[in-house]
Amino acid sequence: MQLPNWPVYGDRELALLREVLESGQWGGYHPIVKRFESDFAAFQHCAHGVSLANGTVALEVALEAVGVGPGDEVIVPAISFVSTATAVSRAGATPVFVDIEPYSFNMNPERAAAAVSPKSRALIVVHFGGQMADMDRLMALAAERGLILIEDAAHAHGSEWKGRRAGSLGRMGTFSFQNSKVITAGEGGMMTTNDAELAARVRSLADQGRRPGEGWFFHFELGTNYRMTAWQAAVLVAQLERLPEQIGLRRRNAAWLRAELVDVEGLRFQEAPPQANAHSYYLLLGRIDAARCGATRDEFHRALTAQGVPCTPFYPHTLYANPLYRQGGCRVEPCPVSEACITDAFWLPQRVLMGDEETAREIVAAIRAALRPGVR
Ligand SMILES: Cc1ncc(COP(=O)(O)O)c(C=O)c1O
Repeated sequence: MQLPNWPVYGDRELALLREVLESGQWGGYHPIVKRFESDFAAFQHCAHGVSLANGTVALEVALEAVGVGPGDEVIVPAISFVSTATAVSRAGATPVFVDIEPYSFNMNPERAAAAVSPKSRALIVVHFGGQMADMDRLMALAAERGLILIEDAAHAHGSEWKGRRAGSLGRMGTFSFQNSKVITAGEGGMMTTNDAELAARVRSLADQGRRPGEGWFFHFELGTNYRMTAWQAAVLVAQLERLPEQIGLRRRNAAWLRAELVDVEGLRFQEAPPQANAHSYYLLLGRIDAARCGATRDEFHRALTAQGVPCTPFYPHTLYANPLYRQGGCRVEPCPVSEACITDAFWLPQRVLMGDEETAREIVAAIRAALRPGVR
């Protein structure tokens, strides 16, 4: 099976990297960093973007900028990459894990509402796999209960809720440009917001407490160095230029593949409410009902990968079942859906959706075969 390699790159990345090389200004102050910030923020429908070293520190500095700290609780989904929770813990606050919805894989707004306590300060929603969480209900919850809403949009470059892009709906959004992500420079991150003051605060915290127009050796608050390098920005400017076409290809392939497999009993892909009108398709997520399709998730995963289709059998545990959080330092709400997904969900990475028509047909055949008894 001829799946495209990931990451995708070409002459444009090389030309921009060369520009940086020859400029002699390789750090975060090369103008290409500002250019990427404004290009990316505009792409996400945000007024401001602050580039950062990676998506993890983007979450950390976002929480710091809004003053989340000891004594505060932050509601997070039980299913995400660990940074969504560790950013809260590293701020000295307590992550409160709540359940996801069965087929959107995103935070369940009712479960989030039930988890609010007098200590609740913020809500971090993840647009899992690139599908927007239910922002109408989560934004209403945040407004009603006075919570700061942060979008962890590490998977959601280009994703939309009612035409508004990820990172532009909450108080702030955070993105990752790590190697597997929707666009990548190997590592990288961004904080987006429509609040100029917050953007300036994040920029200062991430740049040693400096202020624009003041000297290099003048530091006004306790900052650190989370700056993105010019190398990262050069690659990301080129990657962003490729993104609309790549997303279009993935959406077409995903729609075709889902339609082809609609008759398969017991295989159910991620489901979006109509308001989630655009999906980045960073991941194609699904769940396997073993009783109905004759294969367990693990059998399906083994059979599919044996046929050359990359597939991940979901996370090995909910965030609270990680060794770190088994020691405590968190609050855990009942999460039966998250726990079920650990045993029956899977995802296919974005490059599975980036091949030609023949490859798409081969993938459909491989998925069907992986669900047939006897193939495993
Ligand atoms: C949902 C989510 N949040 C945050 C991150 C952290 O991003 P990074 O790897 O750039 O630190 C990731 C990355 O894997 C992620 O998947």
